[in-house]
Amino acid sequence: MSRFDLDEFIGEVRSANSEAGQSGVMAVLQRALTDNDSIIEALGEPSEVGPLPIYQSSNLTILNVVWSPLMVLLPHDHKMWATIGIYTGREDNIIWKRQSETIKAAGAASLSEGDTFSLPEDAIHSVVNPVKRMTGAIHIYGGDFFATQKSEWDPEDLTERPMDFEEKKRQFRQAQDRFDTDSR
Ligand SMILES: [Fe+2]
Repeated sequence: MSRFDLDEFIGEVRSANSEAGQSGVMAVLQRALTDNDSIIEALGEPSEVGPLPIYQSSNLTILNVVWSPLMVLLPHDHKMWATIGIYTGREDNIIWKRQSETIKAAGAASLSEGDTFSLPEDAIHSVVNPVKRMTGAIHIYGGDFFATQKSEWDPEDLTERPMDFEEKKRQFRQAQDRFDTDSR
């Protein structure tokens, strides 16, 4: 793959996933991220906040995840492996570990343009977009992201609860509204 082509990329990720799983998918993503400009050309300059689906099947989901400026997403899990690659902006990840009834911070990954990051199936992370512009990332998951019930953790007392998808959608819509108002 020379210039980023979305259909070609989807095809390569799918075959890498069936041949080698997460490590194969990571290699394809790293290759694509050597040319961020052509990813933006293909996906468009990030303007719509949210997880925008690129591909979805029972064993693979590819999302274009766009974070609004300074957006924060609470600790959550995915119940499947995840591989993240940043094509514009930045993403700061906190990695959490379970401890009895709550979780505690166990690590961090600060991701810049061109960086990739892998999370195992049982990972818990929270995400901050630390920059005052949209961050765009390709997130690839080893399962059907939208059909899987996930957990999130309360930001006050760090206790686990089922992730509320409607609430998440609201949160992304509010982030979009804030962005639209601020840029008016
Ligand atoms: Fe996540």
